Amino acid sequence: MKKIAVIGTGYVGLVSGTCFAESGNNVICCDVDDNKITQLSKGEMPIYEPGLEELVMKNTRENRLAFTTNIPQAISQADIVYIAVGTPMAVTGEADLMYVRQAAKTIGQNLNGYKIIVTKSTVPVGTGKLISAIIREQTKIPFDIVSNPEFLREGRAIEDSMNMERAVIGTASSKAFELIAELHKPFTSKIVKTTVETAELIKYAANAFLSTKISFINDIANICERVDADVTKVSEAIGLDSRIGGQFLQAGAGFGGSCFPKDTAALLHIAKDAGYDFKLIQAVMETNETQRLLMVEKLTSALGTLKGKTIAVLGLAFKPGTDDVRSSPALDIIPQLVDRGANVMAYDPVAIEEAKRRLGYKCTYTDDIYQAIEGTNACLILTDWEEVKQIDLAKVKGISRQPVIVDGRNLFEIEAMRQLGFTYLSVGRPA
Ligand code: NAD
Ligand code: UGA
Repeated sequence: MKKIAVIGTGYVGLVSGTCFAESGNNVICCDVDDNKITQLSKGEMPIYEPGLEELVMKNTRENRLAFTTNIPQAISQADIVYIAVGTPMAVTGEADLMYVRQAAKTIGQNLNGYKIIVTKSTVPVGTGKLISAIIREQTKIPFDIVSNPEFLREGRAIEDSMNMERAVIGTASSKAFELIAELHKPFTSKIVKTTVETAELIKYAANAFLSTKISFINDIANICERVDADVTKVSEAIGLDSRIGGQFLQAGAGFGGSCFPKDTAALLHIAKDAGYDFKLIQAVMETNETQRLLMVEKLTSALGTLKGKTIAVLGLAFKPGTDDVRSSPALDIIPQLVDRGANVMAYDPVAIEEAKRRLGYKCTYTDDIYQAIEGTNACLILTDWEEVKQIDLAKVKGISRQPVIVDGRNLFEIEAMRQLGFTYLSVGRPA
């Protein structure tokens, strides 16, 4: 059993802290956000993540997991201190390290004996050295630095955290490596041992590669539309080649979320700072931007004009299984629709509150999918929620003003939609 303090109780801090507690360690998750800690102390989850509440409740009940705003105390009682604070995109596109710097300073001020300081936040190469320097400004007590980036996906965060295909442990200290490797023993991960710098770059390379697959297939989809080919078959066929792999080849409205958009932008800066012009990743980002706007063009071509039309936007979360709307396609697309004179009825099963906070009241919100669709001129599918996949299409046809569906997630068979009498535009498939 190890004593672990996790600084930053967001998606990553809360999930990984809970998983470390579940595997038998004593974990205290801390945050500067009073409301979040109060909520968690009452057993209320600040995020929607399948299975999280049960696991948090179990581990708090069994006294392996606690929450606090008393960060100095949590640090002084721990042997291992994880940094899991946010690294949002600065206006320039770089990762903003403000919270990481703050966390490092607090660690330095409260170091009361040798500890291992582990970065789980996604941070630019060189941040390990920066953290080390900030801590050293505050204390002469020895410590070791480890980079242990997180690869979990939202919506399957617990499963991912416990059964990661690999854990990357980057450190110059063999003692620290052994301890962090031991922490990962209960999980079924292959361990990759590296330096801090390599570990930091691995995280960006992984996200950038997955983003590249998505933009690549979206480009292929756009070619498919011009030459009467079907992107879903292209994905299936190329994906069967194990050198390519079938995942992350679903064409659609583009990638969103709190990570791919910000991490591709940050990697571009990391390359630039290192004197390298990373043209490929620039193109990946550009394809993703235009892919979102294509959805607006498809709607306009189906309806003639958007002015005065009512559009049901189905899905606000950046993907199913989460209420996270950060950089979600819907958040870019809805203002475009409104600017072009459309009224928007926005549907999502769980992400309405999050969307309202970021979008304001640009549209009407509902968690009743048929209420969203009733009387509208077109549906625009942006998230592949099960509720959308299972929709009663005959009912949709009956209650909407016009049978028009623009599908940014390729959920339905084209022939079936034609037989039902829909004008159905999807991505990269013959109309
Ligand atoms: P988040 O915004 O959900 O949570 C960050 C938390 O840190 C917030 O609760 C904030 O109040 C807290 N915080 C900020 N400064 C603090 C300080 N000085 N002391 C204590 N707490 C502080 O962020 P997240 O989604 O959990 O992401 C965290 C990091 O992990 C980012 O670098 C992100 O890129 C990376 N990451 C995220 C995911 C994901 O799916 N969300 C997956 C892998 C990696
Ligand atoms: C992603 C990575 O998958 C995680 O490994 C990583 O830890 C995380 O970022 C991170 O660094 O935060 P996540 O953002 O939760 O996880 O979501 P993904 O499932 O990767 O999906 C990202 C976006 O790509 C979504 O908008 C999704 O709709 C889109 N996508 C995904 C596609 O458009 N096509 C695909 O084939 C796959």
